[in-house]
Amino acid sequence: MPEIKFYNRQPVPMEMHKVKIVQKLNLLPAAERLAKMKEAGFNTFMLHNGDIFMDMLTDSGVNAMSDNMQSAMLRADDAYAGSETFYRMRDKLEELFGIQHLLPTHQGRACEHIIAQHFVKPGNCVIMNYHFTTSKAHVTRIGGHVEELVKDEGLIPKSNLPFKGNIDLDKVAACIEKEGADNVAYMRIEAGTNLIGGQPISYENMKAATELAKKHGILTVLDASLLQDNLYFIKVREEGMKDKSIREITRMIADLFDVIYFSGRKFGFGRGGGILVRDEVLFHEMEDYITMFEGFLTYGGMSVKEMEAMIIGFEETMDLDIISQGPQFIGHCVKELDALGVPMITPGGGLGAHIDARQVVSHIPSEQYPAGSLVAALYLCGGIRGMERGTLSEERNPDGTEHIASVEMVRLAFPRRVFTLSQTEYVIDRVKWLYDHRHLVGGLRFVHEPKTLRFFTGKLEPVSDWPEKLLEAYVKDFGEDQ
Ligand code: F0G
Repeated sequence: MPEIKFYNRQPVPMEMHKVKIVQKLNLLPAAERLAKMKEAGFNTFMLHNGDIFMDMLTDSGVNAMSDNMQSAMLRADDAYAGSETFYRMRDKLEELFGIQHLLPTHQGRACEHIIAQHFVKPGNCVIMNYHFTTSKAHVTRIGGHVEELVKDEGLIPKSNLPFKGNIDLDKVAACIEKEGADNVAYMRIEAGTNLIGGQPISYENMKAATELAKKHGILTVLDASLLQDNLYFIKVREEGMKDKSIREITRMIADLFDVIYFSGRKFGFGRGGGILVRDEVLFHEMEDYITMFEGFLTYGGMSVKEMEAMIIGFEETMDLDIISQGPQFIGHCVKELDALGVPMITPGGGLGAHIDARQVVSHIPSEQYPAGSLVAALYLCGGIRGMERGTLSEERNPDGTEHIASVEMVRLAFPRRVFTLSQTEYVIDRVKWLYDHRHLVGGLRFVHEPKTLRFFTGKLEPVSDWPEKLLEAYVKDFGEDQ
């Protein structure tokens, strides 16, 4: 929704929905949070949801459903093969994206597994504007490598550029020249770059990049998992797009790509995924992976109820009122914290508000995981669960040294239609408190370090007794029960 005007106060983001079902939240006393954090190995992924007040880990599979989505679930057609639900989903996606062939999967990384398995050979390169953890892991597992060619300006935390997810066309041309087009398995464009702060990519940049790829016969792949936020930003920020409907923009983007995949845990507000394949021969070649790894071709590992909900979710994504909610709440949170002097990734993007942890806790060396430490501290100071997006989320270099992330962030995701403005204000308050006490936050080290995607299940410990000291200061200001 374009901002609602107020009579005598500053406008705030407005929820264009009302609450119908609620879940009670629990704010544990401070000392109990410390005990839970220790049990979780200072890894917010390992916390139990019942011990969390504000769960801002992710927007994946935790978005609120609408009444229409829930009622659609009742008509799910539960057949192993030939489910009518599948045909409804395929038809809706064809209507929106103009691509007829759908391979259903259980979630986004399953799409990445199949695409990498099919196209990447050892030694191949995959061009990306920026990597996502699972999309890179699937390429490197097979022996390929990823070239991240986002424009340098995309990595500057504080900025007012509207499209920091844009790919650098000169770097793309140089990369194709260096690798040879035959060695480039595909170009993957992430619309809404997860790991650099949900920053969008412009339509114009996607068009130029895909034209360049096509000129060299390189397959173009769109990761549409975060497309809903990106659609909003194209509509409100891109020159010449204000008069286009979200539906028109969606189709214009889709027309640029050979393959489009998505995590339905984000795109469609449900839980599932899918790959759209333009070429019929290619589609049939890829079908085997679905029956091998996912399920039959008409459900691909998804619950048909979730598929029905997503069909409505796709349509709701075409509604500007609905897709504005995330970016507007995120924008409010980023703007307020920025004004309070907290180093944020600016401008606000999609997915969540991102704190520039490298700046906040500059006294913590990258090898002691500044963002990992800060995100653990934030749970201690208010029961807020964010996600580390920095060095801890990277895999080590082949020689065992740390791969230092270009951006070191704490992500506070805003699941869609879930949190109210007062909860958002609470988060702003606690982040500001933590910022003012940042000198009390110390580093972390691994005690159990998995080889792949270590951030999910790894266990760490603090390098000193900093959590106790931090909590002492917190309790002095807020009391033991908060
Ligand atoms: N691509 C992007 C851009 C994503 O953000 C994600 C997931 C995936 C692919 C993988 O999809 O989880 O359904 O397998 N991002 C989640 C997050 C995990 O929290 O940001 P998935």
